[in-house]
Amino acid sequence: MRTILLNPGPVNVSDRVRNALMGPDLCHRESECVELCDRIRRKLLEAFVPGAESDYTAILLTGSGTAAVEASIMSCLPAGKRLVHVNNGVYGERISSIVGTQRLGIAEIKCDWVTPPDPETILKSLKQQPAVHAVAMVHHETTLGLINPVHEIAEHVDSRGCVFILDSVSGLGGEALDIAGQHMYMVAGTAGKCIQGFPGVSFVLVRKGFMENVVKYPRRSWYLSLANYYEAQERGSMPFTPAVQVYAAFDEALSELLEEGVHNRMKRYRRLATLIRERMESLGVRAVLPASLQSNSLTAFYMPEGLPYTILHDRLKDRGYVIYAGQGRFESKIFRVAHMGALQEHHIEGFLGAFEEVVRHETGGV
Ligand SMILES: Cc1ncc(COP(=O)(O)O)c(C=O)c1O
Repeated sequence: MRTILLNPGPVNVSDRVRNALMGPDLCHRESECVELCDRIRRKLLEAFVPGAESDYTAILLTGSGTAAVEASIMSCLPAGKRLVHVNNGVYGERISSIVGTQRLGIAEIKCDWVTPPDPETILKSLKQQPAVHAVAMVHHETTLGLINPVHEIAEHVDSRGCVFILDSVSGLGGEALDIAGQHMYMVAGTAGKCIQGFPGVSFVLVRKGFMENVVKYPRRSWYLSLANYYEAQERGSMPFTPAVQVYAAFDEALSELLEEGVHNRMKRYRRLATLIRERMESLGVRAVLPASLQSNSLTAFYMPEGLPYTILHDRLKDRGYVIYAGQGRFESKIFRVAHMGALQEHHIEGFLGAFEEVVRHETGGV
């Protein structure tokens, strides 16, 4: 039996995407590879900035989602300017670490992991900081499956003449995001989550007018300079050896996404989330977040009384289902169930049946 991955990436992929790994051997300096990259970039724009494709460019990087986030942060500032960053979870914390390493921050807006940041607080901070040029934050905070109010914040950021930099690594494809409508300047994403490709390729969607400025900004890294990637891509080249086979699978995953439709994919994820949340509620297993903050693709639940996480995890894994642990102060108190992959209702029904069986066997409850 195939293992069902209920962790937030890497995800289960379709046979069609897996088979794309088995394509012909390809040199990255040949025209076929340039065409492959151009196809991927076109599909990314079609999927995520429909109707505004000519206002954006997609930059491809070989690396996990963090590479795209770090490249965005290091590339988005002119000399002497700084950014405000928002931290309400593990991935907001990661942005803080990147910003700290590069000493690019001016203010951190820190909130509890169960609390979305207040757009008015961010606006106030922008008004107080004359050297601020950008705001960076996470869209879908995967720590607990919380959707941040990015549209309201992006509007404030734009109204102050600043640029909005978004980590949507676990959002794009699964969660609603109006990139073009809200003038989002850089949005980082990855192949290996809601786009249902393999890990190893990430990307940044950048507003074209902004990219023209970015190439003039200081290059704070060589491997993670978006300007380097952009200039090479514009010449029909690439600066470093890409993960060619993973790109081929990503191309196929994007075709699947466009055929399903981004809206329908979000609806499918929402349906699966409802199935999980309703059944857990009927079993007395409590969700950590209120429904109004929950994403389409991940739910964090408190552990059932008397059942250690490792037992729940291991017994479910024996039955073919991989769940995900909590982190930080939630470690061992919660478990997370994501469904970002090529999954359908019957996979989730199978998981819920296995979950009931394990809880009944281990605690005598349910
Ligand atoms: C919101 C968010 N940002 C960044 C990352 C980092 O991605 P990666 O592990 O692919 O580097 C993740 C990974 O789960 C994430 O959920």
